[in-house]
Amino acid sequence: MSGAGLPGPDGGSAHEMPPLVRPPQPDPAAQPRPTPRDEHTVTQPIPFERPLESPSAGPAADVALGPTGRPMPVFPEPGPVAEHGRARVIAMCNQKGGVGKTTTTINLGASLAEFGRRVLLVDFDPQGSLSVGLGLNPHDMDLTIYNLLMDREVTLDDVVVPSGIPGMDLLPSNIDLSAAEVQLVHEVAREQTLQRVLAPALDRYDVVLIDCQPSLGLLTVNALTASDGVIVPLECEYFALRGVALLKTTIDKVRERLNPKLEIDGVLGTMFDGRTLHSREVMERLVSAWGDKVFHTVIRRTVKFSDATVAGEPITSYASSSTGAEAYRQLAKEVLTRWPAE
Ligand SMILES: Nc1ncnc2c1ncn2[C@@H]1O[C@H](COP(=O)(O)OP(=O)(O)O)[C@@H](O)[C@H]1O
Ligand SMILES: [Mg+2]
Repeated sequence: MSGAGLPGPDGGSAHEMPPLVRPPQPDPAAQPRPTPRDEHTVTQPIPFERPLESPSAGPAADVALGPTGRPMPVFPEPGPVAEHGRARVIAMCNQKGGVGKTTTTINLGASLAEFGRRVLLVDFDPQGSLSVGLGLNPHDMDLTIYNLLMDREVTLDDVVVPSGIPGMDLLPSNIDLSAAEVQLVHEVAREQTLQRVLAPALDRYDVVLIDCQPSLGLLTVNALTASDGVIVPLECEYFALRGVALLKTTIDKVRERLNPKLEIDGVLGTMFDGRTLHSREVMERLVSAWGDKVFHTVIRRTVKFSDATVAGEPITSYASSSTGAEAYRQLAKEVLTRWPAE
């Protein structure tokens, strides 16, 4: 496997994909400008810029296309859950750094908590960005996920801390976790260690989100082994598509050898800029390779995310009515429609 291509859902590579044909470029002056709604909200169906010559007759002409180029469904408002528990465990995974894994973990988690779900976030990256992004100081942590993994005396309750968002807790991490990668190699059932320590959480939470480190090493294999589903955040940049084949192969291997229930819950386009042809082309390629696995929701590029990180809180509380917050709320709704009935 070269690792350079974009896999299809059946594991084919980008080389088998239809070539990307750039449509003839009409005079930009003749193009309709995006409406203000297109720029500022994602909660409503977003009109995708359609060529002027698109058929105007018939009901199909009125269907609003979303930023992925497909008709945008309206996702139902999630109802309350009767009782908590039987958590679905999700790994946020992409071996590339800076694609929005941590941002998606924090904000999808906070949005699900707003919808009444009990959420446990697991910082599984020795860089500890998730913990820092929730306002924790890496040097002030008594116990971290590292202690939970390596010391049988330490329990989940010893390590769990509140996240500052009602209904959402955190298993924090710091640089100590980098030692676990080496130490776990010598453990019995080394790939199942995270699964074992998370078991007591499953009855108490509705969702467990694991923020993976940017590699496909033993920690990430542990996360995939412990999970029911994987969400793959992908930056809407051309080179972001590289390496996804290798990720797909890793997920397939873990499913075959360690965790038959593992599913890809969805591929999430992040840092999307609808004004650039480039972002829309990447989206087009994603949809042609992954089909319905691509979330209709995309996360647009906005500096508000870095501001929220500095403030140490999710964007859903830092800038509650911003487009970024609304996008993650919409993702939470979309994710809930995809999961098996609770
Ligand atoms: N949609 C977005 N628009 C702009 N900046 C973003 C967006 N999502 C994430 N970022 C920023 O990009 C950087 C990398 O994001 P992060 O979530 O930490 O990626 P990863 O966890 O995959 O390494 C962070 O500084 C974050 O604030
Ligand atoms: Mg990260």
